[in-house]
Amino acid sequence: MKTTTTARALDRLTLWTPGERRITDGIPFGERADRSPMMLDLWTREHGARHALMGGASGSGKTNTLNVITCGLSACGDTVIWAIEVAKAGQGQAAWLPCFDWLATRLDEAVAMLDAAVAIIEARSRVLAAAAARGKGDDKVVPTPDLPLLTIIIDEGSALFGIKTGDPDRVELSAQATERARQISQTGRSAGVHLVVVTQRPTVASLGDDGDFRSQLHPNLCLRMNRRADVGFVLQGVDLDTVDTTLFNVPGLLYVQDGPDVDPLPVRSYALFQPPIVNRLAHAFATARPTLEAVAIDAAGEAYAERPADPFQAPTTRPVPRQADRDRDDTTTKPRRGRAAAGQALDAARAAAGADLADLPAVPLADLAADSTQIGADDAPVIDAITAVLADAGPNGLTATEITAGVKKRRGSAHRGSVHRVLRTLVDGGQARRVAVGKGYRYHPHTTPESNAA
Ligand SMILES: Nc1ncnc2c1ncn2[C@@H]1O[C@H](COP(=O)(O)OP(=O)(O)OP(=O)(O)O)[C@@H](O)[C@H]1O
Ligand SMILES: [Mg+2]
Repeated sequence: MKTTTTARALDRLTLWTPGERRITDGIPFGERADRSPMMLDLWTREHGARHALMGGASGSGKTNTLNVITCGLSACGDTVIWAIEVAKAGQGQAAWLPCFDWLATRLDEAVAMLDAAVAIIEARSRVLAAAAARGKGDDKVVPTPDLPLLTIIIDEGSALFGIKTGDPDRVELSAQATERARQISQTGRSAGVHLVVVTQRPTVASLGDDGDFRSQLHPNLCLRMNRRADVGFVLQGVDLDTVDTTLFNVPGLLYVQDGPDVDPLPVRSYALFQPPIVNRLAHAFATARPTLEAVAIDAAGEAYAERPADPFQAPTTRPVPRQADRDRDDTTTKPRRGRAAAGQALDAARAAAGADLADLPAVPLADLAADSTQIGADDAPVIDAITAVLADAGPNGLTATEITAGVKKRRGSAHRGSVHRVLRTLVDGGQARRVAVGKGYRYHPHTTPESNAA
């Protein structure tokens, strides 16, 4: 299973001890329509590291959702975080600086960072290959505090990848960034290096006109969009009649699609947008961040060694530990502060913000289409109605919108979300057929000769 829903009690931020979470357990991300918690898996045993794409219109909740992801990553003792934010010179990511191992705020620095990541992938791959040649080790990096996952967050991807006009130097840097990012997306999986790309303009142009790059990015997270075509760029191979995020009217609602052509799940992400809370969480989790292993540090080279400790201050570089010190440090314990310290920081954060982290704000869950893939006894009338509507369909079948209208004519109370859910379940179960026509989809009853011919 990849991005999963768990039935276990909601993992509350307030109960996390800095550094003790593991990326291999997934990131608590939000709630599904039935209020069960949703975990986002950015690394899985079967696949390795996964590259995510998040798209959303202005004000749709991208920064909030990225905060939830960054918070989850920051709590993990087996994940090193780098971030690129060139759109607003780092401002959007500044709050998490204490948890970042490197924050790039300029184009040239971003390219240097991606170069370093490519070098780390090569170095780690050589180590994996050498171990394999001795019949040892794993076929991929399994993240641990001593050999961490390297996550590269790219906030507003189009500001990095989408520069096509103006200053030729910037155009060239943008092309280089796209090339490196595509390379990372193709080779980072087993080396434990991956990208989380956020974009407001979800078009292939905003990803450097590189379709290969886009195709490597999943899971896909789609917040409210202004145009349906944008939804179709983020969620791949879905019927835009049944999965339409242009209809979302509150921030924080999104669809999460685990892979191309997989049914997207509607989710409400946790709320983490109040700056005082974000700041305090960042400082709490910064007390127990892992560092890259020696192989990666050496591969990352000079640009990494000279990365600014604080890009918002006058240029300084962080002290570089000598190799001997690094070796000695390997055995000393990483800074770990207990639940009490983190708890105090979070209590203070809650007091400062006058809000309780554990309580989600009252976004009406009714806005979230029900997503259960089970058909319940309550669904029998909708199943009957859809079956009747499909039976009357002509040889061209019907769109989901036409089916919903037909069902509503028969049953005034039918909810669009439940019609779509049941329709998808009927398709999955072989009781209806979904046929791609042009940019959309049409549905047929399973048994007609027309549908078999289609
Ligand atoms: N999960 C949520 N629950 C409730 N309110 C939210 C949630 N997420 C965001 N909001 C509200 O919506 C506002 C906009 O969210 P956010 O800044 O994350 O959007 P954005 O997509 O990053 O916007 P922009 O494109 O301007 O950067 C927030 O300031 C907050 O008030
Ligand atoms: Mg934002």
